[in-house]
Amino acid sequence: MSGRPALPLSVRELSGFLGVPAARRIREEFLPAVDEPRWRDLAEEFMRLDGPATAYAHPWFTPMPFEACPGSGAHHAHVGGLALHVLQDLENAKALLKVHASRGLPARPGLVYAAILLHDAMKRFVYRFNERFELEKSEDPFIGRNEDHHSWVLRELTARNADRELLLAVAAMHGLDDVTLAGGVRPLAVVNHYLSLSGSGLTMTADDVRPEHVIGFLSDSDWPASGAAQARCRALAGRLAPGLGLGADYVLVHLGSRLGFERADAVNALHGPEEVVRLAFRD
Ligand SMILES: [Fe+2]
Ligand SMILES: [Fe+2]
Repeated sequence: MSGRPALPLSVRELSGFLGVPAARRIREEFLPAVDEPRWRDLAEEFMRLDGPATAYAHPWFTPMPFEACPGSGAHHAHVGGLALHVLQDLENAKALLKVHASRGLPARPGLVYAAILLHDAMKRFVYRFNERFELEKSEDPFIGRNEDHHSWVLRELTARNADRELLLAVAAMHGLDDVTLAGGVRPLAVVNHYLSLSGSGLTMTADDVRPEHVIGFLSDSDWPASGAAQARCRALAGRLAPGLGLGADYVLVHLGSRLGFERADAVNALHGPEEVVRLAFRD
């Protein structure tokens, strides 16, 4: 008799592949690198928050554990996706900060890391999987204006008297909401335009833009490529599901949770679907 657990795996079992190790690395390497104790306390608090301090217009869900929560619907929509997405952002930022420092320019790594740790924290309350492993969302379709994970975290931070420096850095993480080249390039193209509408009472001007904002924003900006890999994995999951005797939604979540969508997509492109099945379901 095989010791392999029966499929489908539970959310908790799936979180063990990528989510738990990612969350461990975040706690061991990046949380201690937030050198401002107040920011570090907030980042830690939001990773395990079990109830909000402010009102939310949509229903909010029982929060998923940080290491199990999906990263989004559009990217990292698998168990452990939030932890993996945040860890990737932190690693991107670490590399960008190194380049920045090599040019002799000042930037506070602790501010960038705190903003990254916080920027998607309320996803735990607005995303979940139903019993068929379909992802459910509870937020406005336009992110950054009013009732969504981004606006809500700014509101929650404001309710906890977070300082302006941290609020602006978190706001800048989702900055590409309103970019248009009509009328020329605008100075605030990569920072958040909706801060005052997100319940913080603050506004951001061109003078407020700092290197930490740009580094945080760029670090978060690999999600369109990750989302494209996810879309190809969805098509692959649909083709694999009948042979595996599993639902296509589960196969998709399993692929992402076990390998990550970028890796599953790359293995499929380089070696074909049998190798994806071997790595994700047979090993
Ligand atoms: Fe986000
Ligand atoms: Fe993000």
